[in-house]
Amino acid sequence: MTNSIRYDDSAARKLIDEKWYEELQPALMAAREEMLKDIELLGSDAIPADKQPLDAGFQNLPQQLLDEYESQGSESLLGRIEAKAQELREQSDRFVVLGIGGSYMGMRALFEALCHPLHNELTRDQRGGVPRLYFEGNNVDNDSITALQELLKTSCQDPKDVLQRWSMTVISKSGGTLETALGFRLFRESLEEYYGADSEESRSLVVPITGLEGKLRNFSNHKGYPEVFPIPDNVGGRFSVFTSVGLFPAAVLGVDLKALLQGAADMTRLFNSQPMGDNPVLDYTATCHLFEREKNVSMRILSTWGKRLEALGLWYDQLLAESLGKEEKGATPLTVVNTRDLHSRGQQHQEGVRDKLITNVIVERPDSKPISVPVVPEEENQDQLNKLKGKTVPDVLSAAIEGTNQAYADVHRPTADLILPNLDAYTVGQTLQMLMLATVLEGRLININPYGQPGVEAYKKNMQEVLSR
Ligand code: PA5
Repeated sequence: MTNSIRYDDSAARKLIDEKWYEELQPALMAAREEMLKDIELLGSDAIPADKQPLDAGFQNLPQQLLDEYESQGSESLLGRIEAKAQELREQSDRFVVLGIGGSYMGMRALFEALCHPLHNELTRDQRGGVPRLYFEGNNVDNDSITALQELLKTSCQDPKDVLQRWSMTVISKSGGTLETALGFRLFRESLEEYYGADSEESRSLVVPITGLEGKLRNFSNHKGYPEVFPIPDNVGGRFSVFTSVGLFPAAVLGVDLKALLQGAADMTRLFNSQPMGDNPVLDYTATCHLFEREKNVSMRILSTWGKRLEALGLWYDQLLAESLGKEEKGATPLTVVNTRDLHSRGQQHQEGVRDKLITNVIVERPDSKPISVPVVPEEENQDQLNKLKGKTVPDVLSAAIEGTNQAYADVHRPTADLILPNLDAYTVGQTLQMLMLATVLEGRLININPYGQPGVEAYKKNMQEVLSR
């Protein structure tokens, strides 16, 4: 495999007994075996009660989609996604993505990691002809909804000019999520007002992505939207980034879907076949689990070194929290973005409660040319940066990473590194799949069903009651 991501936990392992890894191995292998069997169970009619819900479909999905594309081309799901994405790219210059939780965070992670950091500020040409992107339907925030509606209204006045056209996708697996449903009503109303109520044109600019049944599916059938993409039953919301949920909006933005899926498929293959020591999923899970079990290290800090990884970290926060935060168990995730957060949380991580395992997410090569530290005349060297002559911004970042890891090691605080050679669709595909597999593996290891989120229902029920008063 080329361009593989790597997990290096050597610093953390100095702080715990190696024998625990050996002792854990049989249980970890059994948990992996259980995950492989879960796939077979999915196809049967008799999923045992203690296994439900079972959303293991994400494990093999990337390879299945690639195989289907190989054999069916434009008729395959990927082929249809690419075709509709191209249509929206040609037909609009602004694209609104409505969705929340698993129907939002994966796409946001892809957008921030893989698109230009100032994507929406660029001209259409600079963006390569792909639309600007906006997320809504992920809150009930009057000001933010109003702001986007006003922006669309003022910047889109002539529907014949592509620069003044917008389109949207609405994503909800259940089809019944209030935030998204409300957003959809509001933005649909604006869109139909602009292109003509219930016209062929307005229908073609709305792409619902939903489960096989539910309110959004029923509504989409009623409206006759020309393309409605499915979310498979056996893939849960927060595991759905490699379904249409993440793939369609990513395709609209021109992300290389095949490289993304290849990264995920390669990670699954590695997980299924490789032993501890050569298997980032097994190794990451072992280290996280052992620190929690043996050292009460219950905070998982994903320490991302770069702004483009923040949304990936927030996606992981949701994945871990909703999957394992059950039965009064489960580690607490927290994403930080460094060096920024060294100036906010760094103090606590260095000297606070010893309950944190820090996993650095490090991108080795930036996309852009390394910027050199400017050298100025001596009389203007009050900031004394001339001593960094010959160094680049990436050199400064590397020094910050090394210095921070050393500071933690000096006071026996555990760190590990997850290293991406660079940030592209292939490495991001591997990373997302690695973290999803590791989350499920840990759930199987500690006997927590990683699928479903029964605890989220309580607030929804109360909110509905309040609203019906
Ligand atoms: O992981 C999950 O299942 C949740 O976070 C859901 O994605 C979230 O609640 C949104 O649900 P839906 O896609 O049904 O609107």
